[in-house]
Amino acid sequence: MVTRQLTQLELLHELSGAAEKEVDRHLAMAKDWSPHDYIPWDEGSNYSTLGGTDYDPEQSTLGEVAKAAMITNLLTEDNLPTYHREIAANFSMDHAWGHWVGRWTAEENRHGIVMRDYLVVTRGVDPVKLEEARMIHMANGWNPQGKVAEHTDDALTMLHSVAYVTFQELATRVSHRNTGKACNDPIADKMLQRIAADENLHMIFYRNICGAGIDLVPDQALRAITDTLMNFEMPGAGMPDFRRNGVLMAKHGIYDLRQHRDEVVMPVLKKWKIFERDDFGPEGEQTREELAEFLEELERQAVRFEEMRDRALAREAKKRELAAANA
Ligand SMILES: [Fe+2]
Ligand SMILES: [Fe+2]
Repeated sequence: MVTRQLTQLELLHELSGAAEKEVDRHLAMAKDWSPHDYIPWDEGSNYSTLGGTDYDPEQSTLGEVAKAAMITNLLTEDNLPTYHREIAANFSMDHAWGHWVGRWTAEENRHGIVMRDYLVVTRGVDPVKLEEARMIHMANGWNPQGKVAEHTDDALTMLHSVAYVTFQELATRVSHRNTGKACNDPIADKMLQRIAADENLHMIFYRNICGAGIDLVPDQALRAITDTLMNFEMPGAGMPDFRRNGVLMAKHGIYDLRQHRDEVVMPVLKKWKIFERDDFGPEGEQTREELAEFLEELERQAVRFEEMRDRALAREAKKRELAAANA
């Protein structure tokens, strides 16, 4: 059996019914909310240009992990123009697709607004450094498909895009949710829970569109999904201090390889019934074997990561104990 291969235009046309249905579902499920409701304004005060005092690290009540996670997640949200470009180019601005692109972009913008307001009002991080990092990160932009897009046709690029954002939305949901817990502040936790709930609805939109794509062109879609997973990078890659912050976040349970595999990759693949389907052609079957091997390797890496992290945390605990005993 040879499964169908479509061009990008054919794909958008054939999936437009699914897009309409998913836009309607999203609008029925989405909750309107306002950033100002999540900010403790009475904790705020002027900075020096308006007669107050400038940021001092002592003012922050956030720990190192929470700071790293907040900055990484906020800069990721800030880079919205890059993602908007990508999604608009792949989905087009026509009909339900255009409606989604506009709505999704406006919802995402709220995330950056509320997080920045929170950090600036509570003096959670250095606002000067934050602004410098935003300038660098946004000016660089980011190509979410990187290597995978180079050798592919337009339809595959569109499928890559929709597969990528499915995993990425779920990854940001996990990351925001865990950042909320790490902040140790019920206000931040509530705000980040609110954002995480949005990310979940976004994930469902993309997951269902990708699911409809698998039904339509199974081999082509599975190729895109497999390439996406094998090259997956969080959209923060390339931002200032990403490595340092990424390591801190992984070490302290904000977003790590185990969570990536168990809470992001596997549930989505399960939902798409990738390993139960019987509609792949010979090419799709081969891709599925490639994906299975990749997942086994991912599991081995997750185990290795957990062992390394546990050893590192134990070493640090020991150091702290010794320091306390010597104090
Ligand atoms: Fe977001
Ligand atoms: Fe999102």
